[in-house]
Amino acid sequence: MKSFISSKDIPPKERLIFALDVPSTEEAESLIESLGDSVSFYKLGLQLFMTGGYFQLIEKLQKLQKKIFVDLKLFDVPETVKNAVEQLQIRNVDFATVHGNDDIMSAAASVKGNTKILAVTVLTSLDKGDMTDLGFNCDVHQLVLSRARRALSLGCDGVISSGLEVRELRESLDEKLLVITPGIRPASNAWPKDDQKRVVTVQDAFSNGADYVVIGRPIRAAKNPRAAAEEIQRQIEAVFSLPPLLGVK
Ligand code: C5P
Repeated sequence: MKSFISSKDIPPKERLIFALDVPSTEEAESLIESLGDSVSFYKLGLQLFMTGGYFQLIEKLQKLQKKIFVDLKLFDVPETVKNAVEQLQIRNVDFATVHGNDDIMSAAASVKGNTKILAVTVLTSLDKGDMTDLGFNCDVHQLVLSRARRALSLGCDGVISSGLEVRELRESLDEKLLVITPGIRPASNAWPKDDQKRVVTVQDAFSNGADYVVIGRPIRAAKNPRAAAEEIQRQIEAVFSLPPLLGVK
């Protein structure tokens, strides 16, 4: 059977993206310092954006040679989204998320430079009932697939997908699609239930075909965040050091 393990040329260490969801730049800086070289890729979202100091923090991280994922889910008229993406690519941001229809995605892709544009397909917090309320009378899985296909054809680079849906994307879409998977939880039952409903382990996310995993709380809330990140890096290293045949599922 076909292996879905990513064969893209991505250093294993960069496949862990840490979600820096903290309420202040001071907390962010102290976390960055304690994580040291256990994390090479940081995702900065809306919470941090609202604190002030967002772009200074990005510059600091870039000086430390870290990669940056700006997760602000840009959604506005195409011209405004285009101008915003242009700013991000001038700042050498590595990944940015964009929401919206074909024109919005094309506008973002037209100025992306070296910034990879990730499309939000269907927010994982929306279920069939919510979609009906929004006027979409269709199967959510089909909508995710069709939006991912369109995103790629419009020049976007990838999508955010739960670890349970990534295999479906891999089965039907071009391999070049980047898939970034949040909702990762440790294999043991040690982690209490939280708001992430469709969770998978690091190993399962990559076996199903993810290129990157986004992990926040299992690192941030650990007694020793650095040790938690190092343990995840060991698990990633183990997946990507398997000979190709052993990686086949
Ligand atoms: O703390 P946790 O590991 O659940 O972190 C999840 C991160 O991934 C958060 O920053 C959240 O915004 C992001 N995310 C998500 N589900 C999506 C898209 C992004 O949890 N569908």
